[in-house]
Amino acid sequence: MINLGVNIDHIATIRQARKEDFPSLIGAVAVCERAGANGITVHLREDRRHIQTDDVYNLRKFAKTKLNLEMAASEEIVKIALDIRPNSVCIVPEKRQELTTEGGLDVKINKRNLANVVEKLKKSGIMVSVFIEADVGQVLLCSQIGADAIELHCGKYAKFFKENGENSREFKTEMEKILEASRAALESNLLLNAGHGLDYNNLEKICKITGMNEFNIGFSIIARAIFTGLERAVVDMKELIDRSC
Ligand code: PXP
Repeated sequence: MINLGVNIDHIATIRQARKEDFPSLIGAVAVCERAGANGITVHLREDRRHIQTDDVYNLRKFAKTKLNLEMAASEEIVKIALDIRPNSVCIVPEKRQELTTEGGLDVKINKRNLANVVEKLKKSGIMVSVFIEADVGQVLLCSQIGADAIELHCGKYAKFFKENGENSREFKTEMEKILEASRAALESNLLLNAGHGLDYNNLEKICKITGMNEFNIGFSIIARAIFTGLERAVVDMKELIDRSC
């Protein structure tokens, strides 16, 4: 079984478009959990474009499954994470101008700071994952800095699937990298997670990877929910994952 963390950032995107107090994130959590989500994921960005600090405090109180906080390893956000104590955090790179998290973290460049952050978070009982490209070197660095898990950035996997097709050289090369990185993670006793760009069409191949623990999926679920309702969109994704793995 592969766990599904539903990323609800874009429910907050809608709310922030009008600076209103709806749609309710707490309401969304209840629906996602009723529909079988194994966890709730949010990204507290430094620019607060969708999720706000108070949201994370509220979600910590109301999420019954597990709260996964995506965050940059910046002083301000680490302080908040240590106060809120989500079940897990996923450390991501962050650029102000990007539409979404465009790539994985370069653990080599940030190694010393990341090792410190991982240590602090783990000391307060938070499980730590690091969002990286499918690259064996990066996986080994995650193990060296003491991470518990990696989350593979599936942006290229999703792009090549859509633009070049699953039989293309580009897609197959990326898939090979994902498989190698996955094997390296499991051999290093790291939990293996994946996310970004995963949708109802492209999930099948990545579901087949041995040892896959969790997917974090947001945009495709929230987009489908406009037409089907949130509960149906989560149920559909859960069923698809269960059928495919
Ligand atoms: N995992 C991580 C670490 C992310 O940064 C994101 C995007 O916020 C996701 C998963 C979800 O990606 P998507 O919204 O494309 O499903």
